[in-house]
Amino acid sequence: MNLNDCYNFQDFRKLAKKRLPSPIFHYIDGAADDEVTYNRNTAAYNDADLIPNVLRGVENVDLSTTIFGKKLDLPFYCAPTALQRLFHYEGERAVGKAAQKFGTMFGVSSLGTVSVEEISSIVSTPKMFQFYFHKDRGLNDSMLERVKAAKFDVLALTVDTITGGNRERDLRTGFTSPPRLTLSSLFSFASKPMWAINYLTKPKFELPQLQDHVSEGTNTATSIGNYFSSMLDQSMNWKDAERLCSKWGGHFALKGIMSVEDAKKAIDIGCTGIMVSNHGGRQLDGARAPFDQLAEIVDAVGDKIDVICEGGIQRGTHILKALSVGAKACSGGRMYLYALASAGQKGVERALSLYRTELERDMKLMGCTSVKELNRSNIKFRHNS
Ligand code: LAC
Repeated sequence: MNLNDCYNFQDFRKLAKKRLPSPIFHYIDGAADDEVTYNRNTAAYNDADLIPNVLRGVENVDLSTTIFGKKLDLPFYCAPTALQRLFHYEGERAVGKAAQKFGTMFGVSSLGTVSVEEISSIVSTPKMFQFYFHKDRGLNDSMLERVKAAKFDVLALTVDTITGGNRERDLRTGFTSPPRLTLSSLFSFASKPMWAINYLTKPKFELPQLQDHVSEGTNTATSIGNYFSSMLDQSMNWKDAERLCSKWGGHFALKGIMSVEDAKKAIDIGCTGIMVSNHGGRQLDGARAPFDQLAEIVDAVGDKIDVICEGGIQRGTHILKALSVGAKACSGGRMYLYALASAGQKGVERALSLYRTELERDMKLMGCTSVKELNRSNIKFRHNS
């Protein structure tokens, strides 16, 4: 199997599994506890059905949307994710360049592996920075200044990682950042020689946003669960978020909002957008799926801030369903990470191109020429309507 055999999310997932040492694959692929929420995030889309209209002249389809005051050519973007150079040696460079080619946004994490300065020099399309609020206030301040100086367009404060999720696959494989060779993981690293050669010969793995302040994650191996639990500030509250928002002074979002109450508070503190998200099912297992929760949130705040549906997306039709309910855009991590692991920038480009082709085709089949036309009359939920 190679890149040209990949036609969908599951194909990329299979190829990534072939290419990555198993602790790394399972870090991406795994989620919290019994992974109920992780599975529900995708299954939720299958509990709603699209209702197409016909005879509408659909030869030209416009997929563009505007979020955070920026026009994107696609109604989805690459959510910020951590540790990307472990998945492919090009990491964020590959994702950023691919996103730029497709005219969409991409995000860089505080736990990213390429510096915000470098990213800003190679990617001119809209960029989001995912902020993790650390106990170390010096680190928080310096990160904010760097991201500002690098002219990122959106700051997204992660609010669903106040402590580490229980990711049992990581416990079993012993996955850490940086990866640690243990007796039990030795075989999985040795059995993927291409990955190992790249890891050893390409520039050293690092976390440029953090490493001047903390050694965990770069010089001290730690699991991501532990990192969240020990390095992030568990006293973080609405006042802190509000202060960060005003210090930043630009488009600001909370990533990981699930309740209507919190969505309303986000407006009060000055957010211009929210990601309805449960962190890909990697934090609180049993949490509701973003798509299940989307309508309530859109009804409460959709006319005041950009509501983004994040998580579980594996198909163009999943995006169409979220847009029909009222999301302004969708985002996801795994939706491009397996492709990154499969083939770097070429892989991400293929994934983005497949989603775009699906969306164009499905928009035509829906009888829509612009994503703005999608609305609640296009969709019916099986259980509660
Ligand atoms: C995760 C973080 C780092 O592993 O986003 O879910």
